[in-house]
Amino acid sequence: MRQLSLPSESGDQRSSPPRSSPAGYGFVGAGEITAAIVEGLNADVADPPAVFLSPRGRSIGRELASRFPNVQVCDSNQDVLENATSIVLAVRPLIARAVLAELSFRPQHVVMSAMAGVRLERLRDWTSPAGRIVRVIPLPQAARGQSLTAMYPDSAVARELFGRVGDVLVPSKEETLDAFSAACSTWCGVPSIGY
Ligand SMILES: NC(=O)c1ccc[n+]([C@@H]2O[C@H](COP(=O)([O-])OP(=O)(O)OC[C@H]3O[C@@H](n4cnc5c(N)ncnc54)[C@H](OP(=O)(O)O)[C@@H]3O)[C@@H](O)[C@H]2O)c1
Repeated sequence: MRQLSLPSESGDQRSSPPRSSPAGYGFVGAGEITAAIVEGLNADVADPPAVFLSPRGRSIGRELASRFPNVQVCDSNQDVLENATSIVLAVRPLIARAVLAELSFRPQHVVMSAMAGVRLERLRDWTSPAGRIVRVIPLPQAARGQSLTAMYPDSAVARELFGRVGDVLVPSKEETLDAFSAACSTWCGVPSIGY
C-alpha cells in the first residue's frame, strides 16, 4: 500500500485501496485521459482487468486494443454499458448531456464521471437509474501509475480502479473537488464548465 506524501486539508480522507479482480471497466470516451488510465492499468501488471472502450476516439482505441489483449473497442456506447458495470465517463463536458441521453443505465452501474464541472445533481438525472455516481479527477500521470485522483463521494469501486493507477484523495465536499478541478485544468488543458 502506497503512502501519500502531500499535506491534506482537514477532513480529507486518503488511502490506497485493496486489490481485487473486478469484472472489468467500461469507458465512454476514449481520448487522452482514458488512454492514460488504460496505459496505467496495464503497466507492469500480470493480470490486468478487462477494459471496454466506446468506438469514438477510434485511433486511440485501436492503438490501445492492439497493444493490450485485455482491451476491446465496443460497437457502441451502449455496448460498453452492457459489458461492464463500472463505467468511466470521459467525454468532453459540453457533450455530456447529449451522450448520456442516448444511454440506458441500470441500477447495477457504478458511474465514475471524469467530466470537469458536471455536478453530481446533473449526473444523477442524466444516468438514472444507475446505482452509484462518483465524480473523479484523474491526472495524466495515471499512465505511469502516478495519478493523484480526487473523487467525491467516496466509492470502493472508484478507489479500486484509481488505486491501480496512483493514489486517491477524497475531499469532504463536492465544492472542494471543484476547486481541485479548477486548479488542475490549468495544466491539464481541459476547461471545466459550471453545470
Ligand atoms: N485530459 C485530462 O488530463 C483530464 C483530466 C481529468 C478529467 N478530464 C475530463 O475527461 C474528459 C475527457 O477529456 P480528454 O482530455 O480525454 O478529452 P479528449 O482527448 O478530447 O477525449 C474525448 C473523447 O470523447 C470522444 N467522443 C466524442 N463524442 C463522443 C460520443 N458521442 N461518444 C463517445 N465518445 C465520444 C472523442 O472522440 P473523437 O476523437 O472521435 O471526437 C474523444 O476520443 C473531459 O470531460 C475532461 O474534463 C480530463
